[in-house]
Amino acid sequence: MRKVTIVWMATVLILFLVFAALGLLMKMNQAEFVNLPPEYFYAFLTLHGLGMIGIIFCGTFAGVGYLLSRYVKLNLSLMWFVYFFTAAGLIGLLLATLVGKFGAGWYVLYPLPFYSQHTWANWSVLLAIVSIIVLGVAWLIGLLHLIYAMSCQYGFKNLLGWQYLSKEEKIVEIPPSVLIVTVSSITGSLGIEAGAVMMMMYLFKFFVPSLSFNVLILKNLDFFFGHILANITLYLALAWVYELFPKYSGRPLKINKIIAFAWNCTLAFILFAYFHHLYMDFVQPVGLQFVGQIASYMSAVPATAVTLFSAVGQIYRSGIRWSFTPFSFYLGLIGWTMGGFAAVVDSTIRVNLIFHNTLWVPAHFHTYLLFGVFPLFLGFVYDFLNGQNDVPRDWISIIGLWIMVIGGLGFLLAFYLGGIDSVPRRFAVYSYSGINQVYQHGTHLAAFAIPFILILLFGIGMIYFSFLRKLKQAWVEP
Ligand code: HEM
Repeated sequence: MRKVTIVWMATVLILFLVFAALGLLMKMNQAEFVNLPPEYFYAFLTLHGLGMIGIIFCGTFAGVGYLLSRYVKLNLSLMWFVYFFTAAGLIGLLLATLVGKFGAGWYVLYPLPFYSQHTWANWSVLLAIVSIIVLGVAWLIGLLHLIYAMSCQYGFKNLLGWQYLSKEEKIVEIPPSVLIVTVSSITGSLGIEAGAVMMMMYLFKFFVPSLSFNVLILKNLDFFFGHILANITLYLALAWVYELFPKYSGRPLKINKIIAFAWNCTLAFILFAYFHHLYMDFVQPVGLQFVGQIASYMSAVPATAVTLFSAVGQIYRSGIRWSFTPFSFYLGLIGWTMGGFAAVVDSTIRVNLIFHNTLWVPAHFHTYLLFGVFPLFLGFVYDFLNGQNDVPRDWISIIGLWIMVIGGLGFLLAFYLGGIDSVPRRFAVYSYSGINQVYQHGTHLAAFAIPFILILLFGIGMIYFSFLRKLKQAWVEP
């Protein structure tokens, strides 16, 4: 299990740099420092978006798998199967985007993939569809396996922690990671199934071009899938905080009524909050738009409040040892809260009228992915590499983390200011907007972001360097 986890971690960390380099290149194009042909900009945008979300999800999946293997019996061959299928899907996406120039964006919204006007090769559409199906099948099997393994150990009816809400005295205790992984895996499986239905319809459309589908249904399926995947990536990462923080604080963190109730509420809200992606679709039944707004507001409360209180409770007068992992976990929680807050702002119908499809959108999801999930992931990797050893305070990684924060804040600030200035997202260059003010602001803000991206990457490089020094020992450790 250690070895499969190391291979996952290494793959995620290396690919993260590759996809971040694409992000830098896109910003340089928007700043007009380089001149990418537009079809390449969109192919890079698609690969960057799908690739980043995909690998970060894989990182959290592999990480929680490793943690769960302390409590439940996982099938090692199946974990390798998920790894190789994911690798095959990623190679397919690399070919479809970099060679075939497939550039329909990360949620490949219908009918765009089929209206390429020869911008991207026809075969690349098929390859992208098949690759996404392969990824989805691998992840679905992986998530279902986690549920199965936990059920064998604790009984399916106990996985959601309902026993904590009952009045019975003697109950089956479960670790917090089991509850969080169950909530994430159930919602994740539903989301992936919606994505699979959509991709099968795409496959039919590819072979029978005269077919046409209801655009609104496909948009619902698409955003149900995309929204849930991005959200559960974050929730899975929180399992590390619940599981590993006590090691540093010396305070056990167990499930109680409040934690069980909060995570069950999250399960319900996460499924309905996705309607906030469809506010602009006036044909969507109006009631669903309100469901979207209410569920978005509500989804921000239970898990966030409970997790933050638990995290503060972990440090208050606990004499915690501030090594890299707790630092990184705290940064992750702050990034998650900041990004979540910006998301709730955008999910307000009145505000969304103005912020929709502006740079505010990449601003909020980069905040909770780059400043939320990624630091949580780094914290997990650091703890993992140290194994059972006492975790020393390693200054290179801690300084690297601070440098990453400085770079990241500048990078994100440019996105947020762009959102406030109504600069649209997904523009290869802003001169195409035809509005001089948008052109000026967009281009200047992109130029402003570039030095910060370089600082961010330098900080990440320092952290990687410190990981590399520990890698050999981690591989041979039993
Ligand atoms: C050094 C780090 C990163 C840089 C420089 C970067 C840069 C960018 C840029 C320039 C865009 C295009 C924004 C626009 O004008 O619409 C973008 C989009 C995007 N990024 Fe990043 N990014 C980084 C990290 C991440 C991470 C960590 C994730 C997710 C885990 C991520 C996911 C995405 C997604 C999903 C999109 C939208 C793609 C689409 O619209 O189809 N990025 N990024």
